[in-house]
Amino acid sequence: MSKKIVILLGSARKNGNSAAMAHAFMTAAQAKGHTVIVHNAALMNVGGCHGCETCYSTGRPCTFDDGFNSIANDLLTADGIVFAMPLYWYSMPGQIKNVIDKMFSFVIGGKDISGKETALIACCEEEDPTVLDGIRIPYERTAALNKWHDMGQVLVPGVLEAGAIHKTDGEARAAMLAERF
Ligand SMILES: Cc1cc2nc3c(=O)[nH]c(=O)nc-3n(C[C@H](O)[C@H](O)[C@H](O)COP(=O)(O)O)c2cc1C
Repeated sequence: MSKKIVILLGSARKNGNSAAMAHAFMTAAQAKGHTVIVHNAALMNVGGCHGCETCYSTGRPCTFDDGFNSIANDLLTADGIVFAMPLYWYSMPGQIKNVIDKMFSFVIGGKDISGKETALIACCEEEDPTVLDGIRIPYERTAALNKWHDMGQVLVPGVLEAGAIHKTDGEARAAMLAERF
């Protein structure tokens, strides 16, 4: 079955490590016949969630109109969402976190986002893989709360400069991850 998969990317580095793994995933998913849409949160203007709970009251998902509203429908209608990002200060980059925070509008707006197939792709400089817990744990808890099906994770420590990912198996693992969708 052909699926609609959104890759939510969280790095502005064009030739960066997250982007390379996202590209490997995309190529493999497209080869399976899936439609893949990439939205790069790092290049978008998305503010933080105000927690005002006025979502959809103006007809738009978020009352504070910004880039989130332009991708909300893709997130809502996607069969799968792949979160791809680097570790920033032991956590998610702020821009991608803002997008995820604003998915709260789906909850307030009564939109059903359960049942989605999701996956995590992440990388960082340090060699200790547990430093990626700052991304992995919020991802897993968010997936569990929303009844998403975690299709797998590609977590790659030890990559600093853009392109360092090519010396690892990160792209191959990202491509294999696509086989599960
Ligand atoms: C603002 C910032 C914060 C970072 N914080 C961490 C960190 O806490 N731990 C770590 O191992 N790497 C950290 N890094 C390194 C990146 O995770 C690493 O370079 C990664 O490969 C970048 O991925 P990208 O090429 O997809 O942007 C940080 C990089 C930046 C720019």
